[in-house]
Amino acid sequence: MTETLVLPETSDRATRYHALIPQIQALLQDEDDLIASLANTAAGLFQGLNVLWAGFYLVKHGGLVLGPFQGPIACTRIKLGDGVCGQSWAQRKTIIVDDVDDFPGHIACSAASKSEIVVPIIKQNRVVGVLDIDSIQPKNFSDIDRVALEDLSRILSTKF
Ligand code: SME
Repeated sequence: MTETLVLPETSDRATRYHALIPQIQALLQDEDDLIASLANTAAGLFQGLNVLWAGFYLVKHGGLVLGPFQGPIACTRIKLGDGVCGQSWAQRKTIIVDDVDDFPGHIACSAASKSEIVVPIIKQNRVVGVLDIDSIQPKNFSDIDRVALEDLSRILSTKF
Protein backbone atom coordinates (compact mmCIF):
# COMPACT_ATOMS: atom_id res chain seq x y z
CA MET A 1 0.00 0.00 0.00
CA THR A 2 1.02 3.59 -0.41
CA GLU A 3 1.88 5.47 2.75
CA THR A 4 -0.09 8.60 1.81
CA LEU A 5 -3.31 9.72 3.44
CA VAL A 6 -6.05 10.87 1.09
CA LEU A 7 -8.09 13.56 2.82
CA PRO A 8 -11.03 15.74 1.76
CA GLU A 9 -10.68 19.48 1.24
CA THR A 10 -13.39 20.26 3.75
CA SER A 11 -12.61 20.97 7.39
CA ASP A 12 -15.92 19.36 8.43
CA ARG A 13 -14.90 16.92 11.15
CA ALA A 14 -17.42 14.17 10.37
CA THR A 15 -16.31 14.14 6.73
CA ARG A 16 -12.67 14.13 7.77
CA TYR A 17 -13.20 11.14 10.09
CA HIS A 18 -15.20 9.35 7.41
CA ALA A 19 -12.13 9.53 5.15
CA LEU A 20 -9.49 9.18 7.84
CA ILE A 21 -10.63 6.31 10.08
CA PRO A 22 -10.73 3.60 7.37
CA GLN A 23 -7.23 4.60 6.28
CA ILE A 24 -5.92 4.37 9.83
CA GLN A 25 -7.71 1.03 10.23
CA ALA A 26 -6.00 -0.21 7.07
CA LEU A 27 -2.63 0.84 8.47
CA LEU A 28 -3.38 -1.02 11.71
CA GLN A 29 -4.88 -4.13 10.17
CA ASP A 30 -1.71 -6.06 9.46
CA GLU A 31 0.45 -4.59 12.21
CA ASP A 32 0.55 -6.07 15.68
CA ASP A 33 3.44 -4.00 17.02
CA LEU A 34 2.15 -1.51 19.59
CA ILE A 35 4.59 1.35 18.98
CA ALA A 36 4.26 1.14 15.18
CA SER A 37 0.47 1.16 15.50
CA LEU A 38 0.35 4.10 17.91
CA ALA A 39 2.93 6.08 15.94
CA ASN A 40 1.04 5.86 12.67
CA THR A 41 -2.26 6.57 14.41
CA ALA A 42 -0.82 9.72 16.01
CA ALA A 43 0.53 10.85 12.64
CA GLY A 44 -2.76 10.11 10.90
CA LEU A 45 -4.81 12.03 13.45
CA PHE A 46 -2.37 14.94 13.49
CA GLN A 47 -2.42 15.23 9.73
CA GLY A 48 -6.10 14.44 9.30
CA LEU A 49 -7.56 16.68 11.99
CA ASN A 50 -5.28 19.71 11.72
CA VAL A 51 -4.59 19.88 15.45
CA LEU A 52 -1.73 21.12 17.65
CA TRP A 53 -0.88 17.76 19.21
CA ALA A 54 -2.06 14.18 18.85
CA GLY A 55 -0.61 11.29 20.74
CA PHE A 56 -0.63 8.77 23.53
CA TYR A 57 0.22 8.36 27.18
CA LEU A 58 0.70 4.75 28.25
CA VAL A 59 0.07 3.27 31.70
CA LYS A 60 3.40 2.03 33.04
CA HIS A 61 4.24 1.17 36.63
CA GLY A 62 1.20 3.00 37.99
CA GLY A 63 1.64 6.24 36.02
CA LEU A 64 1.13 7.62 32.54
CA VAL A 65 4.27 7.86 30.41
CA LEU A 66 4.50 9.75 27.12
CA GLY A 67 4.12 7.51 24.07
CA PRO A 68 4.16 8.11 20.32
CA PHE A 69 2.89 11.57 19.34
CA GLN A 70 3.00 14.33 16.76
CA GLY A 71 3.32 17.98 17.72
CA PRO A 72 5.36 20.06 20.17
CA ILE A 73 7.39 18.36 22.92
CA ALA A 74 5.24 17.36 25.89
CA CYS A 75 5.50 16.46 29.56
CA THR A 76 6.66 12.87 29.92
CA ARG A 77 4.85 11.68 33.04
CA ILE A 78 1.34 12.22 34.45
CA LYS A 79 -0.03 10.78 37.69
CA LEU A 80 -3.42 9.13 38.13
CA GLY A 81 -5.99 11.90 38.53
CA ASP A 82 -3.68 14.69 37.36
CA GLY A 83 -4.68 16.89 34.43
CA VAL A 84 -7.16 15.88 31.77
CA CYS A 85 -5.23 12.71 30.94
CA GLY A 86 -5.00 11.55 34.55
CA GLN A 87 -8.71 12.29 35.04
CA SER A 88 -9.69 10.36 31.93
CA TRP A 89 -7.66 7.45 33.26
CA ALA A 90 -9.16 7.70 36.76
CA GLN A 91 -12.74 8.11 35.55
CA ARG A 92 -12.27 5.64 32.67
CA LYS A 93 -14.13 7.92 30.32
CA THR A 94 -13.64 10.39 27.52
CA ILE A 95 -13.20 13.99 28.63
CA ILE A 96 -13.77 16.95 26.30
CA VAL A 97 -12.43 20.29 27.51
CA ASP A 98 -13.81 23.28 25.61
CA ASP A 99 -11.49 25.74 27.33
CA VAL A 100 -8.44 24.39 29.12
CA ASP A 101 -8.37 27.44 31.42
CA ASP A 102 -11.67 26.25 32.88
CA PHE A 103 -10.38 22.75 33.72
CA PRO A 104 -8.95 22.66 37.25
CA GLY A 105 -5.53 21.02 37.21
CA HIS A 106 -5.14 21.10 33.44
CA ILE A 107 -1.49 20.39 32.58
CA ALA A 108 -0.32 22.96 30.05
CA CYS A 109 2.35 21.17 28.04
CA SER A 110 1.94 23.90 25.44
CA ALA A 111 0.61 27.40 26.13
CA ALA A 112 -0.92 27.31 22.65
CA SER A 113 -3.39 24.56 23.57
CA LYS A 114 -6.91 25.89 24.10
CA SER A 115 -9.13 22.79 23.93
CA GLU A 116 -8.57 19.10 24.34
CA ILE A 117 -10.08 15.64 24.13
CA VAL A 118 -8.75 12.63 26.02
CA VAL A 119 -10.05 9.12 25.33
CA PRO A 120 -9.08 6.16 27.52
CA ILE A 121 -7.90 2.93 25.91
CA ILE A 122 -9.40 0.04 27.84
CA LYS A 123 -8.29 -3.57 27.56
CA GLN A 124 -9.81 -6.35 29.66
CA ASN A 125 -11.43 -3.76 31.87
CA ARG A 126 -8.18 -1.91 32.61
CA VAL A 127 -7.07 1.43 31.24
CA VAL A 128 -3.83 0.73 29.37
CA GLY A 129 -3.32 4.24 27.98
CA VAL A 130 -5.03 7.39 26.79
CA LEU A 131 -5.32 9.11 23.43
CA ASP A 132 -4.90 12.87 23.79
CA ILE A 133 -5.59 15.53 21.15
CA ASP A 134 -5.03 19.26 21.64
CA SER A 135 -6.17 22.20 19.54
CA ILE A 136 -5.18 25.86 19.38
CA GLN A 137 -8.87 26.69 18.94
CA PRO A 138 -11.26 26.71 21.88
CA LYS A 139 -14.24 24.30 21.64
CA ASN A 140 -12.66 22.30 18.86
CA PHE A 141 -13.96 18.89 19.99
CA SER A 142 -17.48 17.49 20.17
CA ASP A 143 -19.42 14.25 20.30
CA ILE A 144 -18.39 13.64 16.68
CA ASP A 145 -14.79 13.36 17.86
CA ARG A 146 -15.76 11.31 20.90
CA VAL A 147 -17.61 8.67 18.88
CA ALA A 148 -14.90 8.37 16.20
CA LEU A 149 -12.02 8.32 18.67
CA GLU A 150 -13.70 5.85 21.03
CA ASP A 151 -14.09 3.50 18.03
CA LEU A 152 -10.42 3.97 17.25
CA SER A 153 -9.51 3.39 20.89
CA ARG A 154 -11.32 0.02 20.82
CA ILE A 155 -9.29 -1.01 17.77
CA LEU A 156 -6.06 0.15 19.37
CA SER A 157 -6.79 -1.78 22.58
CA THR A 158 -6.20 -4.99 20.62
CA LYS A 159 -2.57 -3.95 20.03
CA PHE A 160 -1.74 -3.84 23.75
N1 SME B 1 -3.02 18.71 28.80
C1 SME B 1 -2.81 17.36 29.24
C2 SME B 1 -1.34 17.03 29.31
C3 SME B 1 -0.79 16.41 28.09
S1 SME B 1 -0.49 17.51 26.85
O1 SME B 1 -1.75 18.18 26.47
C4 SME B 1 0.18 16.79 25.52
C5 SME B 1 -3.46 17.13 30.58
O2 SME B 1 -3.97 18.09 31.19
O3 SME B 1 -3.48 15.99 31.03
